[in-house]
Amino acid sequence: LPTIVVLASGTGSNLQALIDASRERDFPGEIIAVGSNRPKAFALERAAQAHIKTFVVDHTQHGSREEFDAHLMAELRRLDPDLIVLAGFMRILTEDFVRAFRGKLLNVHPSLLPAYTGLNTHQRVLDAGDSLHGVSIHFVTEELDGGPVIAQAEVPVLADDTPDTLAERVQQQEHLLYPIVVRWFCEGRIRLGAQDVLFDGAALAEPMKL
Ligand code: GAR
Repeated sequence: LPTIVVLASGTGSNLQALIDASRERDFPGEIIAVGSNRPKAFALERAAQAHIKTFVVDHTQHGSREEFDAHLMAELRRLDPDLIVLAGFMRILTEDFVRAFRGKLLNVHPSLLPAYTGLNTHQRVLDAGDSLHGVSIHFVTEELDGGPVIAQAEVPVLADDTPDTLAERVQQQEHLLYPIVVRWFCEGRIRLGAQDVLFDGAALAEPMKL
């Protein structure tokens, strides 16, 4: 089976969705480790509960982003996974890192990319008065939140939404969508082409929609 390492900085609800999916008998991949930049991330507890090996590369213990990335890269090289899943991993990765694992790095981003790259997407969507929001799963490239989008799920923005209610609605979709995309990757159905996503060998004209 293809091997997966999940990197998470926080609560790890996406990690949990992946762990749950990976327990299905026909799941085509195996989560071999979970890594975090935060020693106290709840994601690490979820992994431990599921008897998955964990590791920490604490960014506060590294002088520079390059040093942190080099250490993280060394851990990942040791594990040598087929896929690295960023699940709420809140560190920007260096170009060297991204290049080293090109085509093997997936990220979940809480917006309908290319709209709202970066942080605080829910607040920014509310401030803009948008009526539609959502989540994107994309391949990670050197451009921050700019890699080719594989799949999206949309959610409505409601009149009385706060950033929290909106985040919760988006996260419900993340938990459905991420396991589907990871499944596709493990089945060899999606890969990163020169600039775009290849799905069953053909370039995706637009992201798949849940
Ligand atoms: C998720 O909503 C994910 O989309 C977001 O962090 C959350 C992590 O939740 N990611 C980013 O904002 C990336 N810039 P989780 O720890 O419960 O999976």
